[in-house]
Amino acid sequence: MEQLPKDFLTLNDWSPETIIRALDLADRLKAELRAGTPHRLLEGQSLGMIFSKSSTRTRVSFEVGIAQLGGQGLYLSTSDIQLGRGETIPDTARTLGRFLDGIMIRTYAHQDVVELARWTPIPVINGLTDLLHPCQVLADLQTIREEFGRLQGLKLAYVGDGNNVANSLLIGCAKTGVDIRVATPSDYRPDPLIFEQARGIAAKNGSELLWTSDARAAMEGVDVVYTDTWVSMGQEAERAERMKVFLPYQVNRELWTLAGPDAIFLHCLPAYREMEVSEEIIEGPMSRVFDEAENRLHAQKAVMVMLMGRA
Ligand code: CP
Ligand code: NVA
Repeated sequence: MEQLPKDFLTLNDWSPETIIRALDLADRLKAELRAGTPHRLLEGQSLGMIFSKSSTRTRVSFEVGIAQLGGQGLYLSTSDIQLGRGETIPDTARTLGRFLDGIMIRTYAHQDVVELARWTPIPVINGLTDLLHPCQVLADLQTIREEFGRLQGLKLAYVGDGNNVANSLLIGCAKTGVDIRVATPSDYRPDPLIFEQARGIAAKNGSELLWTSDARAAMEGVDVVYTDTWVSMGQEAERAERMKVFLPYQVNRELWTLAGPDAIFLHCLPAYREMEVSEEIIEGPMSRVFDEAENRLHAQKAVMVMLMGRA
């Protein structure tokens, strides 16, 4: 088995085989939890969870997940810890490394997470940055595979803002052979470097990757339709402008008619109804958003076991 990098900062840190191994482990942990079979694989270990942005799913799934693995989670809001008062990342990283077995962090600048990981000997897990949201996409891939029994050869349309979730989906789909079409307004494309990185990965794995400004073109015959908020955390001042620009990208009944007959709808949540998605789509029979939310727990437990497990 290949040696894993210490940290999980982007899905690009992992080979396609490692991603599939994580999904297999996530499925196993899910089945064991359902069966009531304990799996205390991280007995006595501690995970620090640094948050400088809000969270419902990430916070609760990591905290419950580490407890189910026999460890404990510590919620560390940057409004409480000294990092928020100017203690440096290198000092914080080295200090926490003396107490903890792993760190999950949600923050703004991706570079801050890279720096934290560089300065601490323990695994660092990216719980969302302005650039990427890899834990989300691992759970998304688990959800898609559960639905269709495979990943390779499926088609996914991401419609809306070219944000952190879109960037991670590009990498995750490219790694696992899912064709991905991203439809965003021209000024809100995914990160250009990530797009190029994903293009290279896709070429190796036989998947197709495409950007378009035409939401209808992206939707044609797809198996999975994905959207996310038009206003990500930190972009609140741009709200009025964004509401106008993104209107043609709303996933609604009219757009849905273009998707494949068995298409499912995914959204990382939190969702804003009648903005990026209409009520009838998110509440309709095609929606898998709460299975997707649940899979955050299982997928992240797999990540923790793979990075923190001493077996
Ligand atoms: N999808 C997601 O990361 O949700 P939270 O912001 O609630 O953690
Ligand atoms: N793109 C959203 C995802 C929230 C889970 C944000 O960054 O706010």
